[in-house]
Amino acid sequence: MKVGIIGSGGREHAICQCLKNSNKIDKIFCFPGNAGTSSIADNISLDMDNFENIKDFILEKEIDLVIVGPEKPLVEGLVDYLEKFQIKVFGPNKLASQLEGSKIFTKQLCEKFNIPTAKFGIFKNKNESKEFLKDSNYPTVIKADNLASGKGVYICNSESEAHIAVDEIFNGKFGKADNLLIEEFLEGEEMSFFIISDGVNIKKFGTAQDHKRVLEGDKGKNTGGMGAYSPSRLITDQLEKKIIQKIISPTLQGLAELGSKYKGFLYAGLMIVNNEPYLIEYNVRMGDPECQTILPKLKTDLAEIFLACCDETLNRIKINWSDKKSLCIVICSKGYPDVFKKNIEIENLKKIELSNDDHIFHAGTLIKNEKIYAVGGRVLNFVSLSNDFKDAKKNILKNINTLNWSGGFYRKDIGYKVIK
Ligand code: AMP
Ligand code: GLY
Repeated sequence: MKVGIIGSGGREHAICQCLKNSNKIDKIFCFPGNAGTSSIADNISLDMDNFENIKDFILEKEIDLVIVGPEKPLVEGLVDYLEKFQIKVFGPNKLASQLEGSKIFTKQLCEKFNIPTAKFGIFKNKNESKEFLKDSNYPTVIKADNLASGKGVYICNSESEAHIAVDEIFNGKFGKADNLLIEEFLEGEEMSFFIISDGVNIKKFGTAQDHKRVLEGDKGKNTGGMGAYSPSRLITDQLEKKIIQKIISPTLQGLAELGSKYKGFLYAGLMIVNNEPYLIEYNVRMGDPECQTILPKLKTDLAEIFLACCDETLNRIKINWSDKKSLCIVICSKGYPDVFKKNIEIENLKKIELSNDDHIFHAGTLIKNEKIYAVGGRVLNFVSLSNDFKDAKKNILKNINTLNWSGGFYRKDIGYKVIK
């Protein structure tokens, strides 16, 4: 079977690696992939906004299954488009992808189906927003409605900070804004909860905690994710039941009432407050770097799982996982998430000796004349599995030290809540 993977991050390299291990798969294409995927797949460089070109390539090469990694093509309807040409695609359709594409869509779904979430209001202009902010409690949270690569959320400690957020959003920092969300600040511990769905059946797909801020101690600017560990230290059978009953099931039922099934990964970003889950946001894909952290624990053939999702037979599959703990540290280009230099060579990668429990997934990398260069903000994901988080981290640090890359930096405190 031939598969195609859309995306170029660490998540897609991890998916690619996992599919390479499947005896169902003969050939993998990555659109566009990175230096890591180039050693196991054909990297195809096409204009990713041109759905027709992507479709033509898939049909020409007779690709049997397409997996869409990132949110942008999902929210823009790539799945709906490819399915019109009888192409088998793993990922949610455009309507269901509104769960990530519009925070207001999700909030209104929460309201209608009593899904626990922070109290909120929707405001249509600067004046309305600022009037409301006069009597708000601080911190308060202000969010742009649309996709903003994780940057459209402001935690505001004062009215003046809140005004900056309102002005930036309505001035179009994240695209045209018809409204914004102001919501209650929830105090608790965050957790990422994943499921996979075929539209009818769901299966759990692990939990994780990521570190979104750039600086140690979870400080500084938000990033795509500086590291993660799995499982989350908060998960229990009882909490899992609550998450599925109070959050996941009503969401899928709500989508069904709107006429849409949910096929794909669903990532619930939760705040756990006194052992009760509140939905902070949905993502309609795997997390990055959570995917790199979780997939190495998967013991079941990922290709079989994806196919079952496309055929609505997920109920026939048992998904098995390793009991080990997994930790991931992301190496970033110096300067990220602000300006950073590109095309810096990464030497020494070949010197690193990986055990079966160690992995390096590439993100912003490019291969040229057999040399590997950093071309993105997040560059490499170092993952290790072990019986405890401390050992996993020790193994990762050993590998990072061997790499000894002067162009990069990483957070040294990843997993501090689970490593004493
Ligand atoms: P989001 O992009 O919606 O996940 O928000 C980014 C980050 O902002 C989250 O990971 C949380 O750390 C924080 N955040 C978002 N909404 C809230 C909230 N209502 N209360 C507290 N923190 C929040
Ligand atoms: N790690 C956060 C995300 O994938 O959105």
